[in-house]
Amino acid sequence: MASAEKEVETTGLTGWIDRRFPLTSTWKKHVSEYYAPKNFNFWYFFGSLALLVLVNQIVTGIFLTMNYKPDATLAFASVEYIMREVPWGWLIRYMHSTGASMFFVVVYLHMFRGLMYGSYRKPRELVWIFGCAIFLCLMAEAFFGYLLPWGQMSFWGAQVIVNLFSAIPFIGPDLSLWIRGDYVVSDVTLNRFFAFHVIAIPLVLIGLVVAHLVALHEVGSNNPDGVEIKAKKDANGIPLDGIPFHPYYSVHDFMGVCVFLLIFAAIIFFAPEMGGYFLEANNFVPANPLQTPSEIAPVWYFTAFYAMLRATTDPFKIVLMIVIAVLGLLALLRARGKWRLGLPVLAVLVLIFMALTESKFWGVVVMGTAVVSLFFLPWLDRSPVKSIRYRPLFHKVFYAIFVFAFLMLGFLGTRPPSPAATLIAQVCALIYFAFFLGMPFWTPRGKFKTPPERVHYKPH
Ligand code: HEM
Repeated sequence: MASAEKEVETTGLTGWIDRRFPLTSTWKKHVSEYYAPKNFNFWYFFGSLALLVLVNQIVTGIFLTMNYKPDATLAFASVEYIMREVPWGWLIRYMHSTGASMFFVVVYLHMFRGLMYGSYRKPRELVWIFGCAIFLCLMAEAFFGYLLPWGQMSFWGAQVIVNLFSAIPFIGPDLSLWIRGDYVVSDVTLNRFFAFHVIAIPLVLIGLVVAHLVALHEVGSNNPDGVEIKAKKDANGIPLDGIPFHPYYSVHDFMGVCVFLLIFAAIIFFAPEMGGYFLEANNFVPANPLQTPSEIAPVWYFTAFYAMLRATTDPFKIVLMIVIAVLGLLALLRARGKWRLGLPVLAVLVLIFMALTESKFWGVVVMGTAVVSLFFLPWLDRSPVKSIRYRPLFHKVFYAIFVFAFLMLGFLGTRPPSPAATLIAQVCALIYFAFFLGMPFWTPRGKFKTPPERVHYKPH
């Protein structure tokens, strides 16, 4: 409160603004007097980098829109025009396409940090939930954007993904027709995807990022030790292990930004297609509704989820049914209270429904559940400590297996399907779900180290 009163004392232009708008107080609250733990490490660069990439996508997106034509007969040529004729158009386009991939690199690393240090645990559940919603929006944004160049992959990728919705029982075919606005992906689809890509989703995304940061600043940042710095404050109410975000972390993050920009520029100037991973070869061919490419694969950031979709074959559906039956049985034997009957009944209903519906639909469910599971992480993890540093060795091994399975799925999703690849993908999908579903059981077990009272920090 004392600092809030001081803000009004500012003079000159700042004082004039402060008497009408909370400029200085906002700056203090969120920047110069936002006390962040002093032991942030490498993994804490990625939040600010995600912000940087968000700004890059918006700014380059605005310039691309000035020359892009959201019309099925003109879209492909307009992108070529941007690349060849518009001054610096090639740079703007590569900044945007590379930015899309780098967004996912940065966000995946940012999420992994949260997983390692238990940043989703109380009191940061909402920070995490807003983050998961951002991730969903990001996926939608990338999907809608990918149709816009109207290349072969744009067209057939959208065709495949929208067709997935037709696997939903009863409403599916009408739903996919409604999404496309036509019987096939067409000019109508391109127009609405453009609207979603340039305005609807970015608005939601920005709103969610603001909510993410407001929620974070309400509770304060976690750190690699998972120790709450607000628990130990000095006489002025300042956390003993906290340092002001500005100038300490603004300088720290600026260094991260410089390194990131070096890598970003190197990709843009020397490998913007990244061997077909960032921009696929087939997308340099104009969309042709009469010719399906031999291989339809999404961009790398979707491939882990795509591999789960492809892995859900008829035999895998039976494996899933067995897993659900075993879980239902376990609930009957072990659960207490209303869950004891509720869960087995639910399992039986799901099993009947599964028996009546095709595996393609369950592929969609598996893929969707893989993303939705993330939202429940704060309540699935029951470990007494937050950070991986103080967890038993077998927890670390489980984390490593989970990350390996996810990366393997990502790799398999980029390859053409084969019986062996499908089997490996099925095992990896089971590992992915076992990690999350098993959390309430394995996270409280094992010998934990006692976290320190104060954070660990060694000045360089
Ligand atoms: C556009 C995307 C995103 C932006 C711009 C963004 C931005 C930020 C920033 C600036 C921070 C504070 C600095 C830091 O801790 O690194 C932060 C923290 C955090 N973010 Fe994000 N974020 C994004 C996506 C996500 C996603 C997808 C998740 C998880 C699903 C997530 C979960 C978290 C968590 C748990 C924290 C607190 C970390 C801690 O205190 O240890 N964020 N975010």
